[in-house]
Parts: sequence; C-alpha cells; structure tokens
Amino acid sequence: MAQQDDKFKKVIAHAKEYGYIFSSSEIYDGLSAVYDYGQNGAELKKNIRDYWWKWMVQLHENIVGIDAAIFMHPTTWKASGHVDAFNDPLIDNKDSKKRYRADVLIEDYAEKLNQKAQKEIDKARKRFGESFDEEQFVTTNPRVVRYRSDQREVLERMARSLDAEDLADVKALIEELGIADPDTGSKNWTDVRQFNLMFGTKLGASTETATDLYLRPETAQGIFVNFLNVQKTGRMKIPFGIAQTGKAFRNEIVARQFIFRMREFEQMEMQFFVRPGEELTWYEHWKEQRLKWHLSLGLGEENYRFHDHDKLAHYANAAADIEFNFPFGFKELEGIHSRTDFDLKAHEAFSGKKLQFFDPELNESYVPYVIETSIGLDRMFLAVFSQSLVDEELENGSTRTVLKLPAVLAPVKAAILPLVKKDGLPDVARKIMDDLKWDFNVDYDEKDAVGRRYRRQDAAGTPFCITVDHDTLDDNSVTIRDRDTMEQKRVPIAGLSQILHDKLDLKHWIK
Ligand code: GAP
Repeated sequence: MAQQDDKFKKVIAHAKEYGYIFSSSEIYDGLSAVYDYGQNGAELKKNIRDYWWKWMVQLHENIVGIDAAIFMHPTTWKASGHVDAFNDPLIDNKDSKKRYRADVLIEDYAEKLNQKAQKEIDKARKRFGESFDEEQFVTTNPRVVRYRSDQREVLERMARSLDAEDLADVKALIEELGIADPDTGSKNWTDVRQFNLMFGTKLGASTETATDLYLRPETAQGIFVNFLNVQKTGRMKIPFGIAQTGKAFRNEIVARQFIFRMREFEQMEMQFFVRPGEELTWYEHWKEQRLKWHLSLGLGEENYRFHDHDKLAHYANAAADIEFNFPFGFKELEGIHSRTDFDLKAHEAFSGKKLQFFDPELNESYVPYVIETSIGLDRMFLAVFSQSLVDEELENGSTRTVLKLPAVLAPVKAAILPLVKKDGLPDVARKIMDDLKWDFNVDYDEKDAVGRRYRRQDAAGTPFCITVDHDTLDDNSVTIRDRDTMEQKRVPIAGLSQILHDKLDLKHWIK
C-alpha cells in the first residue's frame, strides 16, 4: 500500500514538473478536484482524444460524430432520470466532519478482502513454483475461499440495499463491518443520505426571468436528443452509432485521487442504436472491441480486467466496466452499458416527439435499443501516464526516469538536438525542425550537455531524439535515439520523415 502511495505521489509530482497537469487556479491555492492541463498535458489529451475519434468514428462507416452543447433544455435531465436518480449515498463522520460516499467506503473494504486473498495466492505461488495450480488453490484454500465469499456477500448486500433505497441498511452494513473514517479512525457516523450530483446554473439576464439549467453530467443525452436529426440527415440505417467527446460536470462528494475523480472532466461516448432483442449480442461485441482498442496501446494486457455490474443503473439491462490497474489498484476506466430503449422512450414521453426508426427490412417502426461505450478522457490520461512512468536501473548503475508513453500519443514526437551551440550545427538542426514540424510536433533543445538533454526528453516522454553533430556537416546524416531502448542509429536527414511516419502511423497501432 505504501509502495502504491509512493508511486502515485511520483505520478502527480512528475505530471506537474513536466508541464502535464497543474491544480486549477493554483496561485489561489487551487480548486478541489479541478485541474488544468499544461503544454504537454494538452497535447497528450488531444492525442488520446484523436486516437479514440479515429478508431470509433472515422474507421467505422456506420458511426458518425457530433458536438452537442453543454447547456441543454432542463427537461432533458428530468427525462433522463438525472433529476430524480443521479444521486450518491453520502455519509458524514461526526468527529472528523469529513464526508464520504457510503458505497465507496464499503467497496474499499471489499477491495481489502480481495487484496488479502491475492496475498495468499502470491505466497502460495512463490512456495509451489512451477507446479502451482491457481485454479485449484483459489477453490480449495479455506482462507482464500472465505475472503472471496465475504467480499461477494458484502458487495451483494450493498447492491441490494442501494437498489431498494434502504439507506438505513447501508449504514448498518458500515457499522457491522466496523468501517472507520480512513483519515481519523473514528466510527461515529451520521445516517446515509442521497445527494444529487448535478451542478445547477441560470440562463437569462434577470433573476426573475432566468431559467434554471444544469451543466451536463454526461455527454450521452446530447446524442439521444439528436438521434432523429442525425439519423435523417445522415440517412443512417440501424445498426449505427453516434459519438461525441466533451466536458461533463459532477459535484462529486469524494473528490480525490487526482484526475481520477474530478468535478469537471471530459467524456468520450458512443451510443450504438440496434434492433430491440439484438442488444445483448451487440453489448458483447462492444465489450470486446473496446478492450481491443485499449490493448492496441501496448500498456500490458495484465493491467485490464472486466467487472460486471451487480447493481445496474436505472437505464441498463447489462453493464460492465473495463477496469485498469491504476497506481491505487484496479478501478473503472470505461463503462459499456446496454441502455435498452430507456432514454429514447423517455425523451419521446417528455417531448411528445416520436424518436423511432422505420426498419425497411422488418417493415416496421420501433424505438431502437442502445449500447453505450463511455470512457473518461482524463481517466484514460491517468492510465496512460501512470503506467508509462518508470524508474530504470541502467547498466552503469545509475537510474533514469523515463515516461514510456506510447509514441503515437506522446506530446512531442522528436527533439532535435545540435551537439553544440556553434559551428553551424544549430542552423542544420533548425532546418530539420522546420521540415519535420509540418507533420509532427517536434521540439528544439540546445541547452546543456547532450546526455542531460536525453534524460530531460526521456522524462518528458519524447520517443525520439535526433542529434546533429560535426559529421552531419559532411555526410548529411544524424543520430536518432530511441527513448525506450536508448539505441542510437545513424540515418540520412532525408530519411527522417519516413522513419517517424513508420513509427507513428496509426495503421501500425490500430489493428
Ligand atoms: N453516459 C454514461 C456515463 O456517464 P459513468 O459510468 O457515470 O457513465 C462514464 O461515466 C465514464 O466517465 C467513467 O467510466 C469514467 O471514465 C468517467 N467519469 C465518470 N465520472 C468521472 C469523474 N468524476 N471524473 C473523471 N472521470 C469520470
């Protein structure tokens, strides 16, 4: 646990030091759970968004993208259920005066049971070596069986109580499990209450005539209310999808873990409209497809897992998370939801407008069912950034900090370094930069010894360094250094652009 905390602190400090993420309005001591992306962060975020958009929208003939407004008619949120049901169960500690999400306290407790089971498994693996049969061990070892069944029971009881809106039982569960305030250890809890997460604001010039609005808590509803506009103008045939990326806002009670849970964040969502009855087949399809997208980035298959929901949201008939191994353990990165026809039907009812598709093959009209894929861009940023940050021991005994971002996502693709600041080397380096900058985001760096510049670029996540030396003046060649292998190759200047294209071409990444 302490190791995880250290790693996480390192991630946060590194993100600041290298211009990725700053606290919002930091000169005024920041704003809780709101963050600004710096010069490198904005590029990385844009590259993740583009990678998603390319794959989801431009590489799928039957998916189109839109950009709906953040402000929406307030009835939208009545229809979607957010006014009545977008709540978190919160609990206060009477001694520390701290507020927590009751479900998060219980989930953290359950996760500890999981970690205890995992510890037993790891110990046994070490003891038995090659002959270790994990499947047999987890089904027969009494301690592992007990931890796992306790974990299941706790989560199932919480899901039942939340479904039945039995908040008294949620509190009883917290007390029975002896859950204490994580900061102070106090077990002096208030009752559990529901708390709506939407931010309200006003539209209009005077207080008397102003309309109450909400800042959208998800981008999905902008897609639903435009379903017919897009279907008709794009002559879309079912099955088809509508995607969008954009800001969403939630007044999170427990805002912690850096950009994992923010109050202002960005989502990348796609709603896929299908024939009623075919939704569960499509649900499986999108689960598989989305995992494939993640794996294409090469952050390690072992860092992803599916978590099927016990407690379904008010609109879903099946739902799963893709969880990622963040520095604080496996947590939700993306949700795949089978949303039934809930949203379109609700918007039909509240707007009085038909939101149906005439299916020429069936010769009938129906309200389509929907599979949603929904990922937080900031959370994806954290997954990529934290997994990429490593301290490496080198052969000469020294260590280097390197940010091994997938090259396709890295903010700066190559740094052009003249070996010295004289003898005409900067001129050649500038010329290379002027040529490459049309196709790639490149950087020029001439300060300090070249070794230090390599380390600086390694830590900033730049996948390639191109060094101009005295030989360059004679042979028109440069050295290209690979951030991850530190291998250096001599290549002609004329071939640089092709080399970078080969390494960064989306075709090589998205398969
Ligand atoms: N339209 C469905 C929807 O919004 P969700 O599970 O509430 O579902 C989807 O959110 C994704 O949005 C999550 O998997 C997560 O990646 C991201 N997300 C949700 N709340 C967030 C927050 N407070 N901060 C950062 N990302 C968040």
